[in-house]
Amino acid sequence: MPSTTSLHPDCERLLVSEDEIRATVDRLARAIEDTYPDPDRRLVLVVILKGSMPFAADLMRQIRRPLELEFMKVSSYGAGTKSSGEIKVSLDLSRDDLDDIDLLVVEDIIDSGYTLSRLSQLLRHRNAHSVRTCTLLDKPARREVDFTPDFCGLCIPDEFVVGYGLDYNEQYRNLPYIGILAPRIYTN
Ligand code: PRP
Repeated sequence: MPSTTSLHPDCERLLVSEDEIRATVDRLARAIEDTYPDPDRRLVLVVILKGSMPFAADLMRQIRRPLELEFMKVSSYGAGTKSSGEIKVSLDLSRDDLDDIDLLVVEDIIDSGYTLSRLSQLLRHRNAHSVRTCTLLDKPARREVDFTPDFCGLCIPDEFVVGYGLDYNEQYRNLPYIGILAPRIYTN
Protein backbone atom coordinates (compact mmCIF):
# COMPACT_ATOMS: atom_id res chain seq x y z
CA MET A 1 0.00 0.00 0.00
CA PRO A 2 1.55 3.36 -0.99
CA SER A 3 2.18 5.67 1.95
CA THR A 4 -0.62 7.98 0.73
CA THR A 5 -3.27 5.28 1.25
CA SER A 6 -4.05 4.58 4.86
CA LEU A 7 -5.80 1.48 6.11
CA HIS A 8 -9.53 1.96 6.72
CA PRO A 9 -10.20 2.16 10.47
CA ASP A 10 -12.64 -0.77 10.25
CA CYS A 11 -9.85 -3.02 8.98
CA GLU A 12 -7.57 -4.65 11.51
CA ARG A 13 -4.89 -5.58 8.99
CA LEU A 14 -3.86 -5.22 5.36
CA LEU A 15 -3.99 -8.58 3.56
CA VAL A 16 -3.25 -7.75 -0.10
CA SER A 17 -1.71 -4.40 -1.03
CA GLU A 18 -2.45 -2.44 -4.19
CA ASP A 19 0.97 -3.40 -5.54
CA GLU A 20 0.36 -7.06 -4.84
CA ILE A 21 -3.06 -6.88 -6.51
CA ARG A 22 -1.47 -5.29 -9.60
CA ALA A 23 1.24 -7.96 -9.78
CA THR A 24 -1.34 -10.73 -9.33
CA VAL A 25 -3.65 -9.33 -12.01
CA ASP A 26 -0.69 -9.05 -14.37
CA ARG A 27 0.33 -12.66 -13.74
CA LEU A 28 -3.22 -13.88 -14.35
CA ALA A 29 -3.47 -11.86 -17.57
CA ARG A 30 -0.29 -13.48 -18.91
CA ALA A 31 -1.58 -16.97 -18.05
CA ILE A 32 -4.88 -16.18 -19.76
CA GLU A 33 -3.09 -14.92 -22.88
CA ASP A 34 -1.10 -18.17 -22.98
CA THR A 35 -4.27 -20.26 -22.68
CA TYR A 36 -6.10 -18.40 -25.45
CA PRO A 37 -3.33 -17.80 -28.03
CA ASP A 38 -5.55 -17.57 -31.14
CA PRO A 39 -6.78 -13.97 -31.47
CA ASP A 40 -9.41 -15.11 -33.99
CA ARG A 41 -11.22 -17.21 -31.40
CA ARG A 42 -13.89 -15.26 -29.53
CA LEU A 43 -13.10 -14.90 -25.84
CA VAL A 44 -15.89 -13.62 -23.58
CA LEU A 45 -15.21 -12.62 -19.98
CA VAL A 46 -18.27 -13.36 -17.85
CA VAL A 47 -18.08 -10.87 -14.98
CA ILE A 48 -19.98 -12.05 -11.91
CA LEU A 49 -21.59 -9.08 -10.18
CA LYS A 50 -21.08 -7.40 -7.96
CA GLY A 51 -17.82 -8.31 -6.27
CA SER A 52 -15.66 -9.05 -9.30
CA MET A 53 -16.24 -5.68 -10.97
CA PRO A 54 -12.94 -3.97 -9.97
CA PHE A 55 -10.93 -7.13 -10.61
CA ALA A 56 -12.51 -7.71 -14.01
CA ALA A 57 -12.00 -4.06 -14.97
CA ASP A 58 -8.29 -4.30 -14.20
CA LEU A 59 -7.85 -7.80 -15.63
CA MET A 60 -9.46 -7.05 -19.00
CA ARG A 61 -7.14 -4.08 -19.51
CA GLN A 62 -4.08 -6.28 -18.98
CA ILE A 63 -5.15 -8.98 -21.46
CA ARG A 64 -3.52 -8.15 -24.79
CA ARG A 65 -5.89 -9.86 -27.16
CA PRO A 66 -9.46 -9.22 -28.37
CA LEU A 67 -12.17 -10.02 -25.85
CA GLU A 68 -15.84 -9.34 -25.19
CA LEU A 69 -17.76 -8.79 -21.96
CA GLU A 70 -20.86 -10.29 -20.43
CA PHE A 71 -22.27 -9.87 -16.94
CA MET A 72 -24.12 -12.26 -14.68
CA LYS A 73 -25.52 -11.97 -11.18
CA VAL A 74 -25.96 -15.22 -9.33
CA SER A 75 -26.52 -16.24 -5.74
CA SER A 76 -25.77 -19.59 -4.24
CA TYR A 77 -27.94 -21.19 -1.59
CA GLY A 78 -24.90 -23.11 -0.38
CA ALA A 79 -24.95 -26.09 1.92
CA GLY A 80 -27.31 -26.54 4.82
CA THR A 81 -30.42 -25.40 3.00
CA LYS A 82 -33.11 -27.49 1.37
CA SER A 83 -31.90 -26.42 -2.07
CA SER A 84 -28.26 -27.05 -1.24
CA GLY A 85 -26.01 -26.38 -4.18
CA GLU A 86 -28.62 -24.53 -6.22
CA ILE A 87 -27.85 -21.17 -7.74
CA LYS A 88 -30.28 -18.44 -8.63
CA VAL A 89 -29.48 -16.43 -11.74
CA SER A 90 -30.88 -12.91 -11.45
CA LEU A 91 -28.99 -11.45 -14.42
CA ASP A 92 -28.10 -13.71 -17.32
CA LEU A 93 -25.93 -13.53 -20.43
CA SER A 94 -27.23 -11.27 -23.18
CA ARG A 95 -26.70 -13.93 -25.88
CA ASP A 96 -27.86 -17.51 -26.49
CA ASP A 97 -25.54 -18.73 -29.21
CA LEU A 98 -22.27 -19.73 -27.53
CA ASP A 99 -21.08 -22.33 -30.05
CA ASP A 100 -17.92 -20.52 -31.14
CA ILE A 101 -17.21 -18.84 -27.84
CA ASP A 102 -14.63 -19.42 -25.12
CA LEU A 103 -16.20 -18.33 -21.83
CA LEU A 104 -14.00 -17.21 -18.97
CA VAL A 105 -15.93 -16.66 -15.76
CA VAL A 106 -14.33 -13.95 -13.60
CA GLU A 107 -14.88 -14.03 -9.84
CA ASP A 108 -13.44 -12.10 -6.93
CA ILE A 109 -13.42 -15.00 -4.46
CA ILE A 110 -14.19 -18.70 -4.06
CA ASP A 111 -15.43 -19.68 -0.66
CA SER A 112 -17.60 -22.83 -0.40
CA GLY A 113 -17.15 -23.31 -4.15
CA TYR A 114 -20.89 -23.69 -4.83
CA THR A 115 -21.24 -20.57 -6.99
CA LEU A 116 -18.47 -21.34 -9.47
CA SER A 117 -19.07 -25.07 -9.45
CA ARG A 118 -22.77 -24.78 -10.28
CA LEU A 119 -22.32 -21.84 -12.63
CA SER A 120 -19.68 -23.70 -14.62
CA GLN A 121 -22.04 -26.67 -14.94
CA LEU A 122 -24.86 -24.43 -16.07
CA LEU A 123 -22.72 -22.69 -18.70
CA ARG A 124 -21.30 -25.99 -19.99
CA HIS A 125 -24.85 -27.16 -20.69
CA ARG A 126 -25.22 -24.19 -23.01
CA ASN A 127 -22.66 -25.63 -25.41
CA ALA A 128 -19.98 -22.97 -25.33
CA HIS A 129 -16.75 -23.98 -27.06
CA SER A 130 -15.07 -23.89 -23.64
CA VAL A 131 -15.82 -22.76 -20.09
CA ARG A 132 -13.03 -21.80 -17.70
CA THR A 133 -12.94 -19.95 -14.40
CA CYS A 134 -10.66 -17.27 -12.97
CA THR A 135 -10.71 -16.06 -9.39
CA LEU A 136 -8.60 -13.40 -7.76
CA LEU A 137 -8.86 -14.99 -4.31
CA ASP A 138 -9.41 -18.52 -3.06
CA LYS A 139 -10.21 -19.56 0.50
CA PRO A 140 -9.53 -23.31 0.31
CA ALA A 141 -10.24 -23.81 4.02
CA ARG A 142 -13.91 -22.97 3.38
CA ARG A 143 -14.50 -25.36 0.49
CA GLU A 144 -17.66 -27.49 0.72
CA VAL A 145 -17.70 -28.78 -2.83
CA ASP A 146 -14.77 -30.12 -4.84
CA PHE A 147 -13.87 -27.33 -7.23
CA THR A 148 -10.58 -26.02 -8.62
CA PRO A 149 -10.50 -22.82 -10.68
CA ASP A 150 -8.48 -22.76 -13.91
CA PHE A 151 -6.80 -19.50 -12.90
CA CYS A 152 -6.27 -18.45 -9.27
CA GLY A 153 -4.60 -15.26 -8.08
CA LEU A 154 -3.96 -15.83 -4.39
CA CYS A 155 -4.93 -18.39 -1.78
CA ILE A 156 -5.87 -16.60 1.43
CA PRO A 157 -6.57 -17.69 5.00
CA ASP A 158 -10.10 -18.00 6.35
CA GLU A 159 -10.48 -14.34 7.37
CA PHE A 160 -13.30 -11.86 6.72
CA VAL A 161 -11.87 -9.83 3.86
CA VAL A 162 -13.17 -6.62 2.34
CA GLY A 163 -12.07 -4.21 -0.37
CA TYR A 164 -11.38 -4.32 -4.12
CA GLY A 165 -14.98 -5.39 -4.72
CA LEU A 166 -15.50 -7.45 -1.58
CA ASP A 167 -18.13 -6.12 0.81
CA TYR A 168 -19.65 -6.35 4.24
CA ASN A 169 -23.27 -5.12 4.10
CA GLU A 170 -22.43 -3.58 0.71
CA GLN A 171 -19.71 -1.39 2.22
CA TYR A 172 -15.94 -1.33 1.61
CA ARG A 173 -16.10 -2.46 -2.05
CA ASN A 174 -14.26 0.72 -3.09
CA LEU A 175 -11.16 0.19 -0.96
CA PRO A 176 -8.23 -0.14 -3.40
CA TYR A 177 -6.62 -2.93 -1.34
CA ILE A 178 -7.90 -6.06 0.45
CA GLY A 179 -8.05 -5.84 4.21
CA ILE A 180 -9.19 -8.02 7.08
CA LEU A 181 -12.31 -6.58 8.67
CA ALA A 182 -12.09 -6.04 12.41
CA PRO A 183 -14.36 -8.55 14.20
CA ARG A 184 -15.99 -5.74 16.22
CA ILE A 185 -17.66 -4.62 12.95
CA TYR A 186 -19.54 -7.87 12.33
CA THR A 187 -20.01 -9.32 15.82
CA ASN A 188 -23.09 -8.39 17.93
C1 PRP B 1 -19.46 -13.88 -3.38
C2 PRP B 1 -18.40 -14.03 -4.46
C3 PRP B 1 -18.83 -15.29 -5.15
C4 PRP B 1 -19.44 -16.10 -4.05
C5 PRP B 1 -18.42 -17.10 -3.58
O1 PRP B 1 -20.57 -13.26 -3.95
O2 PRP B 1 -18.39 -12.93 -5.33
O3 PRP B 1 -19.79 -15.04 -6.16
O4 PRP B 1 -19.77 -15.20 -2.98
O5 PRP B 1 -18.96 -17.90 -2.56
P1 PRP B 1 -19.11 -19.47 -2.67
O6 PRP B 1 -17.83 -20.03 -3.20
O7 PRP B 1 -19.38 -19.85 -1.22
O8 PRP B 1 -20.27 -19.78 -3.55
P2 PRP B 1 -21.76 -12.65 -3.07
O9 PRP B 1 -22.89 -13.64 -3.05
O10 PRP B 1 -21.24 -12.18 -1.75
O11 PRP B 1 -22.26 -11.43 -3.96
P3 PRP B 1 -21.52 -10.06 -4.36
O12 PRP B 1 -20.42 -10.42 -5.32
O13 PRP B 1 -22.61 -9.27 -5.01
O14 PRP B 1 -20.99 -9.40 -3.10
